[in-house]
Amino acid sequence: MRVLGIETSCDETGIAVYESGKGITAESVYSQLDTHAPFGGVVPELASRDHIRKTLPLVRQVLQQASLEVAHLDGIAYTEGPGLSGALLVGAGIGRSLAWALDVPAIGVHHMEAHLLAPLLDHPVPPFPFAVLLVSGGHTLLVLVTDFGRYEVLGESMDDAAGEAFDKVARLLQLGYPGGPRLAELATKGNPLRFAFPRPMQHHPSLDFSFSGLKTAVMLKARELSPLSEETRADLAASFELAIVDSLTGKCEQALDNTRASALLVSGGVAANLRLRERLSRLDTPVFFPPPHLCVDNGSMVAFTGHMRLVSGSRSPLKFRVRPRWSLSDLDPHRQSEEH
Ligand code: KG4
Ligand code: ZN
Repeated sequence: MRVLGIETSCDETGIAVYESGKGITAESVYSQLDTHAPFGGVVPELASRDHIRKTLPLVRQVLQQASLEVAHLDGIAYTEGPGLSGALLVGAGIGRSLAWALDVPAIGVHHMEAHLLAPLLDHPVPPFPFAVLLVSGGHTLLVLVTDFGRYEVLGESMDDAAGEAFDKVARLLQLGYPGGPRLAELATKGNPLRFAFPRPMQHHPSLDFSFSGLKTAVMLKARELSPLSEETRADLAASFELAIVDSLTGKCEQALDNTRASALLVSGGVAANLRLRERLSRLDTPVFFPPPHLCVDNGSMVAFTGHMRLVSGSRSPLKFRVRPRWSLSDLDPHRQSEEH
């Protein structure tokens, strides 16, 4: 079965083809970074308009890359939610229409399930249950996967998401948008031990996260030391990064101890962070990271998740909908698989 995946939930247009037995045969992502950068964040209306411009040309490009005609597709997967409603409507509208015109099944995919499963695109499935740390710009979740489609949220951020905290501290240090990768780069030049920033919730038995206190601590220190020298900016970045990585690693360790999960998968944009990768790799449990292009929003994870649901018999009706807010725990479990 060949499935086209369409991701348009936020500021990336991601298109890919996943084929049974072969995996991803073509993929392409267009990032709207330059469109939103002057505004310091994503402008929803501009995001929708750009998805309209980019989705069909990217579909053509990806099909060409895979040496396929549109008629060779056996199913269409699109992101149904959560995300920006206008942006979701573009991918869902195009995906559902394409499926109707080709007379093939369509499936609306949960963006978080796609992120959770992305590491499995290049690692074999570990025995159930396994744990996933999902760290993106909008979410910080620790999830126990007891089966495909059965996700128990063990902990989540009570305020800012990890990526959001990276972005906000980056803005404070005038690093521009999106700040995470730039802050990580600046941190490589700094001393992570110069400032002892708080590790929120570290000694708390719950597996929830909180990053707004840490962000405030960095802000107060930056104000106190202003104007900031290049060296101090780098030290602030490195000390902040170490604090957030410590918090994430500590909760993962606690979760693995509590659940006896067979492995830890890490995904979402912040999974590209090298210090986080290095620290988590030292845990006793096997830890899998997807390659960086699969950590951020992309069409491959949607094509893969959609393929898995389509082969197990799930379908989305012709009267499609999008779900800007959609909890992982409201997701239907996968049906008994007929083929993987
Ligand atoms: O998963 P993603 O593309 O978007 C959401 O679905 O939210 O993640 C983007 C987030 C941004 O907040 C970005 O600053 C952060 O991931 N990020 C990083 C790094 N690369 C991306 N944060 C820290 N270190 C990085 N290397
Ligand atoms: Zn995402």
